[in-house]
Amino acid sequence: MRKGKRVLVVGSGGREHALAWALARAAEVEVVYVAPGNGGTSWPPALGAGGLQPRAPALRVPIGAEAIGTLLDFARTEGIDLTVVGPETPLARGIVDAFQAAGLRIFGPTRAAARIETSKAFAKDLMRSWGIPTPDYAVFHDFEKARAYLRARPGPVVVKASGLAGGKGAFVCESLEEAEEALFRLMRERIFGEAGDTVVIEERLYGSEVSLLALSDGWTVRPLLPARDHKRLLDGDQGPNTGGMGAYAPVPDIGPDAVERVVREIVEPVLEALARQGTPFVGVLYAGLIWTDRGPFVLEFNARFGDPEAQALLPLLETDLLEVLEACVEGRLGDVDLRWHPGACVTVVLAAPGYPGPVPEGLPITGLEDAAAQEGVLIFHAGTRREGNRVLTAGGRVLAVSAIGADLPGAAARAYAAVERIHFEGMHYRRDIGRSHVALS
Ligand code: GLY
Repeated sequence: MRKGKRVLVVGSGGREHALAWALARAAEVEVVYVAPGNGGTSWPPALGAGGLQPRAPALRVPIGAEAIGTLLDFARTEGIDLTVVGPETPLARGIVDAFQAAGLRIFGPTRAAARIETSKAFAKDLMRSWGIPTPDYAVFHDFEKARAYLRARPGPVVVKASGLAGGKGAFVCESLEEAEEALFRLMRERIFGEAGDTVVIEERLYGSEVSLLALSDGWTVRPLLPARDHKRLLDGDQGPNTGGMGAYAPVPDIGPDAVERVVREIVEPVLEALARQGTPFVGVLYAGLIWTDRGPFVLEFNARFGDPEAQALLPLLETDLLEVLEACVEGRLGDVDLRWHPGACVTVVLAAPGYPGPVPEGLPITGLEDAAAQEGVLIFHAGTRREGNRVLTAGGRVLAVSAIGADLPGAAARAYAAVERIHFEGMHYRRDIGRSHVALS
């Protein structure tokens, strides 16, 4: 006899742990499955759970996030009521199209709508046609032509792989030499394979970066709180780019008027454009923005929740997440208002030695229970696995330590107090997440 709804979260990172946690707190959820999940995405039911505890149990399912046919069979056999897709690759491979064709409910955009992330060239052309502010750019399929363009137009540029490159496909270049090298690596060495066969060369803008994620049912938009992630490895935004070393929300320098402006000038037009060309976007649209002295410009769109932004946003969401995601899938987001807990959330990513390069695996992690017992703290696992009672590292970004607090400094103090209780060999992290924010220029 069914007691409630069964939900499947697809993915294995900190974002998916945060989604599973938030869904396991939803009133109607009976069980959350996570495929393939990680060392933190399985827990027993906790009846009468209060505070930040999830109520419904979570279980790992050993199916990879890209094994679409196997996921579909699992969803059908287990009577999954809603599947929620975390990462971009299954979206790019058409997981939503396949589930929809089988009559199964799934949260995320179709392959065609996800092109807003999976093809930077497509996204830039769409923005240009619809007058959506984005840095000036040119698209190339040919190395020699791209190099000639760079030489004729010296100055700081960003060279981007048009396709998916695991968040590592954008090269911010100070000089012509750097730009030519980026082009060579993408188009001649093909470090990201076919993802770099088309490149976008973009003028470099200066300002403060912010992520605005918005839910959409195809037409109606509900923006989440603004968030800021920290892509560089080291404090003060130094060092190489990473998948994200931390995040915080909300962002003090992006108030409600700024959010409204982004929705009006950027989010609504792009959703309208996608809907009008017959590929309405259902899911979460992530606008990666730079706020310049001329206002906001789009650096990139993603077709999913950000990681680690999700780990900072979902703890602040008061509205039942299942209710919201179902409203998107059913085309009735207009009936739902998002409510947020007051205060702020700070997420600090703990990385393995060597990250963002190759990392060792299997390092024992200690202090997790003690850290998780701290007030307002949530430990989201990313690159971890379990071996008996032990939790071991199993990836570059190992854990995301989130803390909610009355304000940003309070949340940061809690997050870092929890971080100090966790240990694994060679663990490293940024010490400035949520502790300094760039004011609008
Ligand atoms: N935080 C950046 C991303 O999720 O792509």
